[in-house]
Amino acid sequence: MGCGAGNLARALDDAGFRILAIDPEAPRGRIFRRTTLEELDEAEPYDAAVASYSLHHIANVDAALDKIAGLLTPRGSLVIEEFGWDRVDRRTAEWYGRKQGEPSVESVLEAWRIEHEGLHGYDAMRPAFDAHFAEVFFEWRPYLYRCLERDELEDSEREAIARGKIRAVGFRYVGLRR
Ligand SMILES: C[S@@+](CC[C@H](N)C(=O)[O-])C[C@H]1O[C@@H](n2cnc3c(N)ncnc32)[C@H](O)[C@@H]1O
Repeated sequence: MGCGAGNLARALDDAGFRILAIDPEAPRGRIFRRTTLEELDEAEPYDAAVASYSLHHIANVDAALDKIAGLLTPRGSLVIEEFGWDRVDRRTAEWYGRKQGEPSVESVLEAWRIEHEGLHGYDAMRPAFDAHFAEVFFEWRPYLYRCLERDELEDSEREAIARGKIRAVGFRYVGLRR
């Protein structure tokens, strides 16, 4: 759900999964459908739903997860790749600023807040996960390197997280339908 350009959807299709990939801006093609989750009219039960960086955009996360749960087989799974923009504290913003050559932590925090205003953070989304799914996997992971479009920073972000220097912003979650 929220497949964007559809790269993951195509990879899953190539790997032999039977897949429906939705997004109001989905590409044209057999596995894609141009629709929002809210407007999706689909009865077929699925074994799994995958949401990669899309849930934080959804207006009502609780209603979205209720709908996803209803589209799944009993004990079907929800796989989420996401970030919690509300996780960025002062020390994390300092690290992020340093990587951009921006020395003012106030400027970094202000720009971060403006960029993410109106999007759900981790604390806002998490209760909806737990209301509809039972967690079977969770990990905090690097995310800021993605914002900077600098894959070479992933390891140093991971190390800074592990050493407690910054907070992890990205996360992966798998839950089973309750
Ligand atoms: C940040 S992009 C992520 C795209 C892709 N999943 C990825 O990981 O690169 C968020 C996507 O969610 C889609 N989206 C936003 N609201 C949605 C909704 N209500 N239903 C389905 N998709 C939605 C957007 O159109 C956008 O393509």
